[in-house]
Amino acid sequence: MPRTVLITGATGTVSTALMDALEGAEVSLRALVRDESKAEGLRRRGVEVVVGDLGDPGSLPPAFADVQDVWLLTPNGPRAPEHNMNAVWAARQAGAERIVRLSVVGAAHDAPNRSGRLHALSDRETEACGMRWTILRPHWFMQNLLNEAGDIAATGTFSLNMGSARIGMIDVRDIAECAARVLLDGPERHHGRTYTLTGPRSMSFDEVAGQLSLTLGRSITYLPVSDDAKRKTLLGYGVPVWIVDMLEEYAQAYGPGWGDFTTDTVAGLLGRPPHDLAGFLRDHAAAFTPTDGN
Ligand SMILES: NC(=O)c1ccc[n+]([C@@H]2O[C@H](COP(=O)([O-])OP(=O)(O)OC[C@H]3O[C@@H](n4cnc5c(N)ncnc54)[C@H](OP(=O)(O)O)[C@@H]3O)[C@@H](O)[C@H]2O)c1
Repeated sequence: MPRTVLITGATGTVSTALMDALEGAEVSLRALVRDESKAEGLRRRGVEVVVGDLGDPGSLPPAFADVQDVWLLTPNGPRAPEHNMNAVWAARQAGAERIVRLSVVGAAHDAPNRSGRLHALSDRETEACGMRWTILRPHWFMQNLLNEAGDIAATGTFSLNMGSARIGMIDVRDIAECAARVLLDGPERHHGRTYTLTGPRSMSFDEVAGQLSLTLGRSITYLPVSDDAKRKTLLGYGVPVWIVDMLEEYAQAYGPGWGDFTTDTVAGLLGRPPHDLAGFLRDHAAAFTPTDGN
């Protein structure tokens, strides 16, 4: 009998890449979604879908029933530890064997950002969950650059409040493949391990602009802006204040070098180096390119 893996965050960036990475593997996939209208695409790819909400413990038992492995991804927000708690409890009640949890780089009780401190609470809870567990702490996603793709396509520039920060950014596809590796290995193999995952190089955003220019064949420029300017832009796009504050805390930490490192953990897990930025940009070039009439 193949093991059943419950995928949380199933409509989001990382979990979608994880389901891609598990395509064809000897596991049954079940996805938790909040909204039945988002189930169709998942069902088309052969994933069983159960509707439930991590914020509503009463909705969770059907999703967790008869599951061996839980891929636990909590969305960013002040309720993240509550969501993690509800999932861990539902998994325990259902007799699940293992939790593989997505945390964040630098998660710690004294992290300089609230996301890191909230993730630390959930990491501690997961470590004490009584099941087998593994925690993945990825660095800044290369996919975050897609938020700048509209500006890059339209103006050849992108504006961040990152100053001259250098970051060991990672392609989400590598996170997904590491998660898939852990889930496909037996529950003892990675039990009790916390893996900090990065890309192959720590890069500044001037270097990112240079790589964008090379890949796209036209000049792209990084424009450093103040926290206030970025805040105004994000609020203008309707980004919630809590998220804007959190992003500002990260930017303030990254500026002086908090994210300036890499690890060899992805290579250790996958037996190949992580994707570099050039590969990521090549595969997403269309998103950064003006469409006809733009
Ligand atoms: N961005 C980075 O650079 C970075 C780096 C390291 C770690 N992380 C961590 O990555 C995680 C975010 O991953 P992501 O980017 O893949 O997320 P995402 O694309 O924003 O997707 C979030 C997912 O969570 C689901 N969700 C939201 N609220 C829910 C609820 N109450 N109950 C059940 N599901 C719910 C969403 O479903 P709906 O479709 O219903 O909204 C969606 O599937 C966060 O924990 C963050 O700290 C991010």
